[in-house]
Amino acid sequence: MNTGWDKFQEMIKDQMRQVYSETVIEHAMDPKNVGDMENPDVYVNVLGSCGDSMELWLKIKDDVIIDASFLTDGCSATIACGSMMTELTKNKTLGEALAISARVLIQKLGGLPPDHTHCAGLASLTLKRAIMEYMKISREPWKKAYQQTKVRQNPVIVDESEAQY
Ligand code: FES
Repeated sequence: MNTGWDKFQEMIKDQMRQVYSETVIEHAMDPKNVGDMENPDVYVNVLGSCGDSMELWLKIKDDVIIDASFLTDGCSATIACGSMMTELTKNKTLGEALAISARVLIQKLGGLPPDHTHCAGLASLTLKRAIMEYMKISREPWKKAYQQTKVRQNPVIVDESEAQY
């Protein structure tokens, strides 16, 4: 039975189809890996130049990302980028994950409108930042607890123009 909610969702999707690919819509409406994570190996909170932020939690074993989750207060494109980015990072080595650029995210999502490519920049720079933080923590493990409290209060500001498109 087609409920009022189903109809409402279809109406939203029709509006989104005018701007976004089906893959973006799929990930934006039903994002993967959303939410907080208990005992992550690294956590970052990153603020983009548009004022939207992305939080990322990673679990890492033997330099392989075994789990990833995210939260964002950004737009539909950012939600889709966070969802795709976390899907792609799982079971990747840190080196492989560093290659997940904004360009890769845009390609995997079937494209993004020009005024939303920076959303992929935010997601890719959030991942990069998390890997850099993890490397720092690995060298100085005592910093882990401090880092997680500090970054929660103070998001790191990034410039999405520095991402690889
Ligand atoms: Fe700000 Fe998408 S509009 S990240």
